[in-house]
Amino acid sequence: TLRANPKLIDTMVPGVIRWQTPLAHMRRTALQDTELGGKTIRKGDRVVMWYVSGNRDDEVIELPEEFIIDRARARIHLSFGFGIHRCVGMRLAELQLRIVWEEMLKRFERIEVVGEPKRVYSSFVKGYESLPVRVS
Ligand code: HEM
Repeated sequence: TLRANPKLIDTMVPGVIRWQTPLAHMRRTALQDTELGGKTIRKGDRVVMWYVSGNRDDEVIELPEEFIIDRARARIHLSFGFGIHRCVGMRLAELQLRIVWEEMLKRFERIEVVGEPKRVYSSFVKGYESLPVRVS
């Protein structure tokens, strides 16, 4: 699909970033008492924001468990956080991934996953140490 229509890279890149959610969460400390989703949060409470959970919220994202390569509003996700601390590198991150895909498609006819990934041992970084692929 991607090779036939490289324009899909536009929605594929943010789609992968949502679906994969490279950073699972961040933490904040509440500055005042508040209520969120029916729960009381007190001033001083430490709160974990699970981006990985927000990215599967079916009240906001249609078919959140699915990877849809041409998803409408593909940039609506929480992988870069939200609010004033939202990732300052998000555009660069997207640009890098776009270029990686553009150049891979130019060079290789086939890109096959040929083994199991080795994942980073972390509850924070949902990363990969290795993933064997064969390119030809
Ligand atoms: C796919 C790649 C990336 C992901 C998923 C990602 C994700 C995030 C997340 C979740 C935050 C925290 C937002 C918050 O606390 O509300 C963040 C902050 C930040 N990111 Fe990224 N990031 C990525 C790439 C980059 C790159 C390439 C750069 C630098 C060139 C960068 C620089 C920063 C900085 C400086 C902050 C702190 C912003 C602040 O606290 O005001 N990130 N990022």
